[in-house]
Amino acid sequence: MNMFSILLVLYLTVLHVSTIPAQIPYNPNRTNGGLITNGKLNDEPMCKTDDGQLEIPINSKFRSLINTCKVCTCTATGLLCEDQCETPPPTTTTTTSTTTTIGPTESTTTTSTSSSTSSIDQSIVSSTLPIGFLPSSTSNGGLNTGSTPPMGSADNDTASSACARAMAARDYAFVDCSEVYLAGKRTSGIYEIWPRTSPKPFRVLCDMERDGGGWTVLQRRGDYSQQSNFFVSWSSYRRGFGDLTRDFWLGNEKIHTLTNQDEYRLHIDLEDFNNQTRFADYEWFFITNEQTKYTLNLGRYVQTSTGGDSLAYNRGMRFSTRDQDYDQSAGHCAENYHSGWWHAGCTLVNLNGLYLRGNDTTATGVFWNNWLGAKYSLKSCEIKVRPVGFNTEMLS
Ligand SMILES: *[C@@H]1O[C@H](CO)[C@@H](O)[C@H](O)[C@H]1NC(C)=O
Ligand SMILES: *[C@@H]1O[C@H](CO)[C@@H](O)[C@H](O)[C@H]1NC(C)=O
Ligand SMILES: *[C@@H]1O[C@H](CO)[C@@H](O)[C@H](O)[C@H]1NC(C)=O
Ligand SMILES: *[C@@H]1O[C@H](CO)[C@@H](O)[C@H](O)[C@H]1NC(C)=O
Repeated sequence: MNMFSILLVLYLTVLHVSTIPAQIPYNPNRTNGGLITNGKLNDEPMCKTDDGQLEIPINSKFRSLINTCKVCTCTATGLLCEDQCETPPPTTTTTTSTTTTIGPTESTTTTSTSSSTSSIDQSIVSSTLPIGFLPSSTSNGGLNTGSTPPMGSADNDTASSACARAMAARDYAFVDCSEVYLAGKRTSGIYEIWPRTSPKPFRVLCDMERDGGGWTVLQRRGDYSQQSNFFVSWSSYRRGFGDLTRDFWLGNEKIHTLTNQDEYRLHIDLEDFNNQTRFADYEWFFITNEQTKYTLNLGRYVQTSTGGDSLAYNRGMRFSTRDQDYDQSAGHCAENYHSGWWHAGCTLVNLNGLYLRGNDTTATGVFWNNWLGAKYSLKSCEIKVRPVGFNTEMLS
């Protein structure tokens, strides 16, 4: 073996190992919220966080600081988490779970983003964990039972520091809808996720029914009486816009963090006004960061798909919007097709185009060329992703 193949093997090993956690829920061997058997008290099993700072004794509960409805219990097989309330959390613990919603307007989105950040900080500072898990006492091995802690232990106890507790909350968050699914949520709807490299959690639409469920929806169009405007700026596409209960674009920054934490399959559902449906699957999909203009990286078209391989033409293209033109045409594709998209010179797919309802002569609608041509604007579509290795047979 030469140096290159050694590096390749190492790389593949690391890649393989790093993709496992997203697919297996609460694997006892998993360090992220998993169970360890070398706990301090008589080798009593403990659940431990990624940063190694929080150890949760068996049968103890942990309430997420980020989503105060989410309560995790350390069980003999690892952490089990569940939502304990349907309504938003009380105002004293602030409103993180509601403020991360993608607002219908750009200004709402901006406001909610900043308030979400500060509410996390506030809850860390002021919170007493509501149901009896105090990290500082367990990290001392239960010895710190007196009213005065040992010298310096309170100040230097990293487990109770804001940072460690924020990390713990993050560790217990779902990284995508496949983890939400594997945790037992089988109803399509809006859930909060926190991708590994995202600075904060956010809400997404999860499709828990299509082809085994576990899909995180990136985009949706449909015949809604109120239509979102998809002919918007670069910053809107970066941040996301629309309404998760109707039509929306999740946002390029979120799509970037989501699709780079694991290997994702791409699935696109299409429907016309006669209620006929088609779909297109691609073996893998991710987009690069904003510096490289969210370039589309796309695996092979899955031949069992029914919609036709229209997206191939956009492979390797940068994202373009009405105000930022990175296409391969001398003209301005995003302007001409009225969409933000990975325009080449220009496109056979325009799912962010104008909502024109069926036949149109302009080819600026919501089209998938290989099915009904560029002059038919579809009734609905959904773009969604799920980890390549997702397998519902893993559930016992
Ligand atoms: C956990 O690790 C042990 C020992 O390495 C292994 O035998 C077992 O199959 C692993 N369990 C899972 C669920 O991966
Ligand atoms: C605890 O932290 C303080 C301030 O960070 C430091 O001065 C002190 O030496 C630390 N004590 C111990 C026991 O590490
Ligand atoms: C399509 O489906 C909707 C909802 O199920 C129904 O109301 C409508 O009549 C159907 N349209 C056609 C053309 O079949
Ligand atoms: C759309 O165009 C096709 C082909 O020209 C035609 O058969 C069909 O009736 C048209 N549909 C509508 C809703 O106008």
